[in-house]
Amino acid sequence: MSHTKIGLGLAALGRPDYINIRLEQDVDKSIDGFKTNAFKVLDDSYALGIRDFDVAPSYGLGEQFLFEWNNSRDHSDVNLSTKFGYTYVANWEIGFNGKHEIKEHSIDKLNEQWEVSKALLPNLKIYQIHSATIDSAVLTNDAVLSRLNELKQKHGLKIGISSSGTEQVKIIEEAQKVVFNDRALFDSYQVTFNLFEQSTFHILKQLLVSGKTIIIKEALANGRVFRNSKFQEYEAAYKYLEKLSKKYSVGVDAIALRFIMDYLEPTLILSGASNTNQVKQNLKALNFELNNDEISKLKSFVVFPENYWHERSSLKWN
Ligand SMILES: NC(=O)c1ccc[n+]([C@@H]2O[C@H](COP(=O)([O-])OP(=O)(O)OC[C@H]3O[C@@H](n4cnc5c(N)ncnc54)[C@H](OP(=O)(O)O)[C@@H]3O)[C@@H](O)[C@H]2O)c1
Repeated sequence: MSHTKIGLGLAALGRPDYINIRLEQDVDKSIDGFKTNAFKVLDDSYALGIRDFDVAPSYGLGEQFLFEWNNSRDHSDVNLSTKFGYTYVANWEIGFNGKHEIKEHSIDKLNEQWEVSKALLPNLKIYQIHSATIDSAVLTNDAVLSRLNELKQKHGLKIGISSSGTEQVKIIEEAQKVVFNDRALFDSYQVTFNLFEQSTFHILKQLLVSGKTIIIKEALANGRVFRNSKFQEYEAAYKYLEKLSKKYSVGVDAIALRFIMDYLEPTLILSGASNTNQVKQNLKALNFELNNDEISKLKSFVVFPENYWHERSSLKWN
């Protein structure tokens, strides 16, 4: 039986526009509306047994919401994670036309964002480089790496990276090489893995064996696992997911999550739910197991990483 837990990511809860493939029509996009919803989803998730919550400074007011929630609820058993490296610049402008977040993996950005994020201590357990890339050279930036090591020693944090794009395996390999006093700097890897993007399977299995924390993001391929006429190439996958969804009396989301739990067995999978109903449906993944034939069949729906990430980059923020 898989020991994978389900956590909650705040990417869809802290800012009015994100990659929302299925448009829910009646969402209140005011700051107050988002805050009320975020607190409700956080409280409901906690009541339903979720203890792991992931955020980033670029998730609009997500970090602020999590900070206020964490302070006011005072739960001693939650594990929070955040990141540094991206800044939210859309200023809560609905339909903002342009890049919503700006990447900067510099020591100045790390120090600036840490000053804010440290308010999540002591429940802050994992501190990550947000979307580490080869081209930003963050994995060879001595000032940044030394500072992360300092924070690790001082606060007992796990240090992690998150990765995206066609070079995920290469990025993880580079991260593994970062060592201080014969000890690897990185304890945690947050990686995109799902039915369609499985390129990191072998390296993640090795990392799990060596005791690293593996956190899966975009487990529902940003919502692309749900039947959608825009993505005709997934028709065979949709048919099979719906067949299993009937068999196990759960939604397609729970099947897609369970596939990751039974095949990869990561430490944690982040739900990207935008409301409590989605959290409840996602959590149904904990109540059944897929058999080997079903896992094999689901594995077969993988697509080339280049195609996957090309499509990912064309998804609209709304
Ligand atoms: N670079 C990084 O470090 C990075 C990047 C991405 C994500 N993350 C982390 O990973 C978390 C999860 O990723 P994600 O939110 O991008 O991707 P995801 O889990 O693949 O997709 C989430 C979307 O799936 C839809 N959904 C979920 N449950 C559903 C249900 N039961 N029925 C119908 N639709 C459902 C929702 O879409 P609608 O809102 O349209 O309904 C939701 O926004 C984030 O919150 C964040 O913490 C990190």
